[in-house]
Amino acid sequence: MTYSIIGSGNVGTALARQFTRSGISVNIANSRGAASLSALASELGSNVTAVSFEDALKADVIILAVPFMAHPAIAAAAPDWAGKIVVDAMNTYGVPSELLAGRASSDIVASAFKGANVVKTLNQLPAKLLASDPLEGGGRRVMFVAGNDAGATVAIVELVANLGFAPVTLGKLNEGGVLLEKGGPLVLQNLIKLN
Ligand SMILES: NC(=O)c1ccc[n+]([C@@H]2O[C@H](COP(=O)([O-])OP(=O)(O)OC[C@H]3O[C@@H](n4cnc5c(N)ncnc54)[C@H](OP(=O)(O)O)[C@@H]3O)[C@@H](O)[C@H]2O)c1
Repeated sequence: MTYSIIGSGNVGTALARQFTRSGISVNIANSRGAASLSALASELGSNVTAVSFEDALKADVIILAVPFMAHPAIAAAAPDWAGKIVVDAMNTYGVPSELLAGRASSDIVASAFKGANVVKTLNQLPAKLLASDPLEGGGRRVMFVAGNDAGATVAIVELVANLGFAPVTLGKLNEGGVLLEKGGPLVLQNLIKLN
């Protein structure tokens, strides 16, 4: 399984740090090209490779760490995303409610990335906590995961566990996924699983 992070801001950098900590290879891209990421990539070491936006899209798993309003432009880069897993690490702060129209935000992402299996996770904690060691207080930091496709969800649960978190699966995007959205009860819950 190959991984790319799209976005090199607070969340993209936090996640890249976790991949480094866990010894898992990942590509990272932003809107400004690989050269703009060379300092970050050299700071984080050989597991993190700065790539172009186009090359980032070649990974099996594409982690969206961009503003929610940026995802349609990214989705427009390919007509068909079949075979890809798209991880929605975004939140909808500042997004007009009429644009969401009562839908689960990850369902909107899934509509944009036609054919992809979308999994919502890695969005629920502030970037500083996302970047910090998930091993804490004798346990592991909980990371909730929701998705409609069982296989894709299992693949991302494995990734989340390999990054050191304690994954908790919540069901589908319009079920557990909405608990992870802006205003949901599981947002900003910094929980530690003790076993
Ligand atoms: N900040 C938090 O604590 C936090 C926690 C959990 C979830 N989130 C969510 O995570 C997402 C990212 O937040 P952030 O704080 O990391 O934002 P940020 O610091 O503003 O970084 C956004 C990144 O997205 C990239 N980007 C924007 N449009 C793009 C496009 N069309 N193609 C490629 N890259 C693009 C930007 O590229 P450039 O660098 O080239 O401009 C930038 O690297 C948001 O949806 C936010 O709600 C944030």
